[in-house]
Amino acid sequence: MERRQFLKGSAMAGAALAFSGKHSWARSADSRIEIFVDEPKGQISPNIYGQFTEHIGGVIYDGVWVGESSKIRNQFGIRAELIDRMKEIHVPLVRWPGGCFADSYDWKDGIGPVSQRPTRTNFWANDPDAARLHQKGPQVFESNRFGTNEFVRFCGLVGAEPYLAANLRSLPPLEFDHWVEYCNSPAGSTTLAEMRAAAGFPEPFNVKYWGVGNESWGCGGDFTPEEYASEFRRYTDWIPRYGVDLQLIGAGPNGNDIDWTHRFFDEIFGNHPYRNSSFTGWSVHHYASNLSRGKTNDWILSKGDALQFDMVDWYELLRECDRVEQIVADQWAVMGQYDPEHHIKLVVDEYGPWYREGTELDPTHIFGQQVTMRDAVATALTLDAFNRNAEKVSVAACAQLVNNINALFLCHEDRFFATPNFHVFAMYAGHQGGQSLRTEFSAPDIHYVRDGKPASFWGLNGSASRKGNVVTLTAVNPDLDGPSDTQVALRNVKIASASGRILKAGDMHAHNTFENPEAVKIATLDVSVNGETLSLSIPAASVIQLEIALA
Ligand code: AHR
Repeated sequence: MERRQFLKGSAMAGAALAFSGKHSWARSADSRIEIFVDEPKGQISPNIYGQFTEHIGGVIYDGVWVGESSKIRNQFGIRAELIDRMKEIHVPLVRWPGGCFADSYDWKDGIGPVSQRPTRTNFWANDPDAARLHQKGPQVFESNRFGTNEFVRFCGLVGAEPYLAANLRSLPPLEFDHWVEYCNSPAGSTTLAEMRAAAGFPEPFNVKYWGVGNESWGCGGDFTPEEYASEFRRYTDWIPRYGVDLQLIGAGPNGNDIDWTHRFFDEIFGNHPYRNSSFTGWSVHHYASNLSRGKTNDWILSKGDALQFDMVDWYELLRECDRVEQIVADQWAVMGQYDPEHHIKLVVDEYGPWYREGTELDPTHIFGQQVTMRDAVATALTLDAFNRNAEKVSVAACAQLVNNINALFLCHEDRFFATPNFHVFAMYAGHQGGQSLRTEFSAPDIHYVRDGKPASFWGLNGSASRKGNVVTLTAVNPDLDGPSDTQVALRNVKIASASGRILKAGDMHAHNTFENPEAVKIATLDVSVNGETLSLSIPAASVIQLEIALA
């Protein structure tokens, strides 16, 4: 690994072209950030700070649901500490019940009297990860104890919008209509509304967000884009509305598969155009899972380890996560060819680093993995990319909330802790609903050696937004080698005061555990205000947040 090469105060000349030139920049700074407060780019949808929960491993059972009679503090059977912590970070939306599970799920199994709910084989029962389970618990045989009523109640307790993913592979379209009817038909109106009332919920749930299948190119039916487009019409045409502003989300590509998007939109908007004003979202999934550096595409062999990694693996993971911005740009461009007004926005409803098994806290936690400072930096740079593309991304959901890939929380039975990712969401919550601002970052690239060849990664990046008189700036210094002395300037405004917060750790592998739940936590960051600029030192491998009050 080579230290990054640059000369303070001179190496940035080329990169600084995008800067206004209005400010007198300190020659001693490594990096500069200029926030164009008078150039709003669009409102940051709070829903890009959403979360994803699937019936896999320990997400629902052990994670969200502990049961009413549990000794673990709960509200209606839902883990109370989870609710409290989700409220702290203002989780705006939660997606459920999958994922792949959604296309094997019969929503009717999860309603009605608990004693009459059937037990079914979970979608993930045959996954190689499930094979190691010692016991045949709800991870293998789904008890249906947690169904639509429990999920919507969970969202209500958190203050989040429910986002339901409908089964398009193994249930007919009429069942989709009926699920909407169960959730949204007015009190006393239909047999399904009566069933909802009998469970204690007379008032409609008014669920707005509906996924029309999941990964329909894969576990959701193995469709071609043309076949999926045809199914999409059948499932969404004349869906009952009950006065709810339904938001229908199509199952988009695997990563950046342009062909899937082109062919779907060709079929939908081509010779026999299908116009449905509720079709407002196009789902994209982006997992950073192949860390083999081009050596293999094998799903299992290509994965890295959540805890055992070196400096090159650090940058590799960040590079893989960072691809999300290109995916957003490319998908947006294709969608714009068919929908020039961009009525349909991007919904990145699964994202995060996905490692091989081995660091889960309990054998039943299929896809459970530890979350280090590396993942916190990766999550932060992903959220910054969403903020910068506020006009394109309307919804996003981190995969997954608890006891799974890229979790914010890890727990087992009565033990619970927040991972570094939770702290990232806490630091970024101030962006929700703000106006995304054009912001230019200038910092020398990081140079290192990757498999004997020179490689580089950007040295500083982030996003800024404004709500009233407060500007929120978040940024990531991915450099493992050293801090970045940074100057921040705000255009055409006066700064009244500024405060900073930071997430950092001396060790890139740092993570929280049951024994040490606060090994990684937020600390105060020193910021000095000098007229219309700010100065701060951004430590190596850190995530920062500034709250800047304008005069
Ligand atoms: O998040 C785990 C799985 O990853 C989801 O079920 C699926 O949609 C994706 O492939």
